[in-house]
Amino acid sequence: TSFPDGTTVTFACNTGYESAGGSPRITCTAGSWSSLGLKCQRKNCGPVEEVENGQIEYRPGSEFGDKAVLICNPGHMPVGGGELTCGTQGWTGRLPVCEVTQCESPPVVQDGSFSPNRELYDYKDVIVYTCKSGYTHNGSRQLHCSDDGTFKPEPPKCIKVECGEPEISFGQWSSGARPPYGYSSTVTLQCSTGYKMIGSATVTCKLNSQWSPGLPQCIRKSKIKISICMY
Ligand SMILES: *[C@@H]1O[C@H](CO)[C@@H](O)[C@H](O)[C@H]1NC(C)=O
Repeated sequence: TSFPDGTTVTFACNTGYESAGGSPRITCTAGSWSSLGLKCQRKNCGPVEEVENGQIEYRPGSEFGDKAVLICNPGHMPVGGGELTCGTQGWTGRLPVCEVTQCESPPVVQDGSFSPNRELYDYKDVIVYTCKSGYTHNGSRQLHCSDDGTFKPEPPKCIKVECGEPEISFGQWSSGARPPYGYSSTVTLQCSTGYKMIGSATVTCKLNSQWSPGLPQCIRKSKIKISICMY
């Protein structure tokens, strides 16, 4: 812990830091050390080489321990590689390559099909689903090949829609669709003579195979006695 007169001590920057100038040496002269000139700063790896079809994002900068990631331009996807890390010897790691986005075949949907049917689709290509007869789509029929190489949104579901006979007491079918009652079939009902209707006379078959609004009711008309006074 003590050094003879004339001793020279050399400092070095910590790992990840580099000299920002100043002498790294101090000398023991007449019982005291000369002042240390060395300044250390975090190593800066500088910019990453240019990439095609993408941009480098620095998280948060380009100094020791920081990361550099590749953000591909719209319509391009990163393939292979990963992120870079600023180390003592500069950037380490391997960046992906931004390749033109393509989508593989979209999901198969039960009781439905899609077109066009290809092995590969280009970015922004659109496919349309069609449900087989008697089935109705729930969800979007149109999907597009999105940025990340998958089709969006989720494909629709093909649902069998069939509403039951719209039977009501003291009333009957008056006009409109005939069975089978598929999606959006509309029927108008009427009450038998002497009965009046409560609710909507016209009902529509919905996706859940139920009539909407609910079926109306027919109730007996009340007989109102009318008294007439004669003079
Ligand atoms: C249609 O899809 C929506 C959303 O996924 C769901 O909440 C609804 O229950 C579906 N309808 C039928 C009749 O399956």
